[in-house]
Amino acid sequence: MTELIRTEKLSYAFKDGTFAFKDVSLKIYDNEFIIFTGRNGSGKSIFLQHLNALYKPTSGNIFFFGKDKTIESEIRSKISYVFQNPDAQIIGMTVLEDVMFGPLNAGQSKIDAKIKSKRILKQLGMSRFENAFPYNLSGGEKRKLAVASTAVNDSSIVIFDEPFENLDYEGTVYVLRLMMDLRKRKKTIIVVTHDLEKVAAHSTRIIVMNKGKIAADGKPEQVCPGLARFGVRPIKASRLKEMTWLENEA
Ligand SMILES: Nc1ncnc2c1ncn2[C@@H]1O[C@H](COP(=O)(O)OP(=O)(O)OP(=O)(O)O)[C@@H](O)[C@H]1O
Ligand SMILES: [Mg+2]
Repeated sequence: MTELIRTEKLSYAFKDGTFAFKDVSLKIYDNEFIIFTGRNGSGKSIFLQHLNALYKPTSGNIFFFGKDKTIESEIRSKISYVFQNPDAQIIGMTVLEDVMFGPLNAGQSKIDAKIKSKRILKQLGMSRFENAFPYNLSGGEKRKLAVASTAVNDSSIVIFDEPFENLDYEGTVYVLRLMMDLRKRKKTIIVVTHDLEKVAAHSTRIIVMNKGKIAADGKPEQVCPGLARFGVRPIKASRLKEMTWLENEA
């Protein structure tokens, strides 16, 4: 296993002195499929935004790719983040332009960026919106756009913050299939979700945050039965393999 990210006693305090999370030490490896869960307000989103340098810790250390120092542009190119609020990441004037932004920014040719972007939009059932104004999209359509614009970047780690929110059954299946594709290409996936029954069968590890601390971290069959005390619906280990909305697919 290759270590990709390591945090050591990482903390983030707001100006009023309260902590979003405190003294979190964690290692993320290659080829993991991690579910991050825990109550509302437990610190998941703010912690995970430290993993691609969107936030800076108020204390502690974070190391990327086993190096002492990494520049932000390298972090951003290798670790991408789908925001919980899809409006927060819209940059294009059209859906296609929005998806193409990442590949173009990474120096790819316009034609390559277009081919890739069209392919991922098709995969998410979004082709008919290519020329639409992103802010006019519905909640679920915006979510799929956010997923497309992030997953198109071919990063080593993709962090999905509540990717199933607003999605119908079909949309959920499209997003799960896309995750499986990333997985086949050996990407590390981190999914923040309260909907474990949609995805837990695919996970290799479950991390639970509670009041800004890591309350549990282990294999799904170890962590899932005890989830209720952290405000998450528990899953019996024997039922884990049924916990996917890709139930009709291999
Ligand atoms: N500027 C701020 N000052 C004080 N507290 C804040 C500030 N911004 C956010 N918080 C609090 O930080 C906590 C952690 O927020 P975070 O978004 O990481 O939670 P979360 O675990 O992702 O929750 P959810 O499941 O609802 O998405 C929340 O309780 C939030 O109210
Ligand atoms: Mg959150």
